[in-house]
Amino acid sequence: MAKSKSVWLCQRCAFEAPAFENPCRNCNEWNSLVETIKERPSASARVRAASSTSTSGPARPQALKLAGADRAPRLPLGVPELDRVLGGGAVPGSVVLLGGEPGIGKSTLLLQAAAGIAAAGGRVLYASGEESAAQIADRAERLGLMEGPAAEGVELLAESEVGAISEALMLAKPTLLIVDSIQTATLGGLEGPAGSVGQVRGAADWLAGAARATNCAVILVGHVTKEGSIAGPKTLEHLVDAVVMLDGDRHGTLRTLRAAKNRFGSTDELGLLEMGEHGLTGIDDPGRAFIDDREARAPGAVVAPLLEGSRPMLVEVQALVAGAAFGAPRRTGRGLDSARLALLAAVLGRRAGIAISDRDIYANLVGGIVLDEPALDLPLALALASSQSDRPISRETVAVGEVGLLGELRPVAGLGRRLREAARHGFTRAIVPAPRRGVTPEPAPDGLKVIAVATLREAISEALDAR
Ligand code: TYD
Ligand code: MG
Repeated sequence: MAKSKSVWLCQRCAFEAPAFENPCRNCNEWNSLVETIKERPSASARVRAASSTSTSGPARPQALKLAGADRAPRLPLGVPELDRVLGGGAVPGSVVLLGGEPGIGKSTLLLQAAAGIAAAGGRVLYASGEESAAQIADRAERLGLMEGPAAEGVELLAESEVGAISEALMLAKPTLLIVDSIQTATLGGLEGPAGSVGQVRGAADWLAGAARATNCAVILVGHVTKEGSIAGPKTLEHLVDAVVMLDGDRHGTLRTLRAAKNRFGSTDELGLLEMGEHGLTGIDDPGRAFIDDREARAPGAVVAPLLEGSRPMLVEVQALVAGAAFGAPRRTGRGLDSARLALLAAVLGRRAGIAISDRDIYANLVGGIVLDEPALDLPLALALASSQSDRPISRETVAVGEVGLLGELRPVAGLGRRLREAARHGFTRAIVPAPRRGVTPEPAPDGLKVIAVATLREAISEALDAR
């Protein structure tokens, strides 16, 4: 056994101190250091030694055309929205961390992914320290997986000790290993309770070694609390190859998937899913899902053609400007950045003659989606101006653009794709930033009148005049 050495590990920030200290010198938390045995897990040490085989002689460069052969092969998980976010699927030998609040649907998503692998002829080992095999079977029943290939191709293991999980992995040699969750996982020989920083990191490190040794794709579940849990995905980020977050309002049905880190692909893609009676279904074409379907025009709303990764989508922005004569005015944004809201209120007041800085401001995106794109500036500012002046914006109008501090509008990327999506859904007018000097704009899609303006003031007069 490797010689063990003990360190003191902060349970809040994961700082490693050689001896006990109080408070933690890194994050100033009191009584947060726990003694942890620092011992190189033997399995992963062996894997590491094997993977860093010392080649004698100088390093050899490789022709660009040959380099493609090393590109990571993909293992599609059969849940298209998850595959989209991962960049085509999981990569054998790598580790993905799926994070999200308790109850958001992580186990449901992964059981569906397990069924997807089984349907493609693969085998899955599903290790759960959270639930018994019977509970997982109940979920599979609800998802309608008991009659399909998953019934044979998915093996359940109610186990949370990673040594035992690794042994089962070596024996079963599955295509995919799911560990639900990393907070319940423990590594024998490590001090500290399950869920402590030391255990979580030790277990993840060991499993990453096992993934490489067996060339098995591994997905770890990580719970995050609203405050961002102590031993949550943050402390694991550098140990895994990709971090995917499943988010959404637990009382609503919409779920979004986003990569916070992706060693094998982009982090721009957004996955959209809906939680239903029989599990999660991908929303392939969001269409009008994020637009209120009322007919009547009400002041304070406009639709924005946004671009999330490679996918254009239409999202309605709603705003309400109200009251507040005394005290600090409120700025409340749901689904969007509140700081941005305050900034736009200031720009509207100084550069567009819409004085709302001393009033309460509320804004949200329809459908409970959370987005953070600079292209949301103009629609948000227009919704605020519309609410303040009590003049509606036509239901046939879309608006998109970034707003600068001087009240100028800045062009946004992918305008053509955004406008084509707006035209496809029957919108007839688009208010957009004027292109940079010397840039010829793409022709407008059929049926859509494109109004290019240079300033927020002009945009407001175009939007609110359309009655
Ligand atoms: P779960 O996958 O257990 O969440 P997590 O693993 O992230 O804690 O999902 C929990 C919720 O999802 C639970 O409230 C029930 C709901 N649910 C559905 O609405 N439909 C379904 O088909 C399933 C399986 C669960
Ligand atoms: Mg779960």
